[in-house]
Amino acid sequence: MKYRHAFHAGNFADVHKHVTLNALLRALARKDKGFLLLDTHAGRGGYDLSSSEAHRGHEAEHGIERLIDVTPPAAGWPAEISDYLTAVQTLRRERHDRAAYPGSPLLALLALRAQDRAVFIESQPGEHAALREAVSEFARYAPASLAAPRRAAVDRATLECADGYGRIAAWLPPIERRALVLIDPPYEDAVGDQRALAQALDTVLARLPSAVVAVWYPIKDQRATDAWIQRLTARLPAPPDAATMPWLVGELCVHPPDSRVGLNGSGMLVLNPPWRIAERMREWLPVLHHALDPLGRGGWTVREGAA
Ligand SMILES: C[S@@+](CC[C@H](N)C(=O)[O-])C[C@H]1O[C@@H](n2cnc3c(N)ncnc32)[C@H](O)[C@@H]1O
Repeated sequence: MKYRHAFHAGNFADVHKHVTLNALLRALARKDKGFLLLDTHAGRGGYDLSSSEAHRGHEAEHGIERLIDVTPPAAGWPAEISDYLTAVQTLRRERHDRAAYPGSPLLALLALRAQDRAVFIESQPGEHAALREAVSEFARYAPASLAAPRRAAVDRATLECADGYGRIAAWLPPIERRALVLIDPPYEDAVGDQRALAQALDTVLARLPSAVVAVWYPIKDQRATDAWIQRLTARLPAPPDAATMPWLVGELCVHPPDSRVGLNGSGMLVLNPPWRIAERMREWLPVLHHALDPLGRGGWTVREGAA
């Protein structure tokens, strides 16, 4: 496998995925009962946007750096965007490093509560070693008042160097009976990842039908992506105790659908979306789109359905 997320860290797709992840973590935290975050493709944990890899494609300039530079709307950023920006700025301030960028594990560790747990799985040994380092460093930079809860958050996290798809059955159902499963594959082998993903959704839903599942996917050819999402959602099993399985799709495109740039847009499929997430997404997604695609070449969409 050649994929290294450091080349893409902080790009528009990371921003879209991480705002959505943060919003889902906050939504699950509305109930007191703890939950498990299972991050099947965790990456390195955190990224250095001044590294040669990150610099090569200048991707963060059109993602997190643009969002930070843009003037917020007169009414201020929607809560989901400002929460995400606060997390990024917190990491940068604590590390005295304007180029630091949190991957999904560090974002999650900043958001999880004392009653929540996390499992981070990364299959590439080098990336896994970096993840281990990033998570163990998490408490070191915290101000003294936050050091103890940060250490406790790290203690409640489990890291595995393994195939994330293959480990789902081992972690579900969790004792809390509540889970957010983030599946964020590289799609380097698009057909292979799509096949593994469909199986992974079956496993998650068979073991915990109420799990909230968030799947990131790239949008290169919009028609092909639409057809794949339709096939994927059509085959979702209905949960045993309900008539239907609700899902929602949030997409952010920064290029026209027929553009040949490589990555036109970023999509998030959410199964069992938490209460009011779709409504909130219709507030924050257009604002995020306007900030990241000021010329309006792409677009945004929120679609809901039930299988
Ligand atoms: C898109 S990146 C993850 C980024 C991370 N979720 C974030 O938001 O910061 C995908 C990661 O999955 C890893 N990977 C690829 N195949 C995997 C598998 N079968 N199981 C676990 N990790 C895998 C890659 O090495 C890469 O680090």
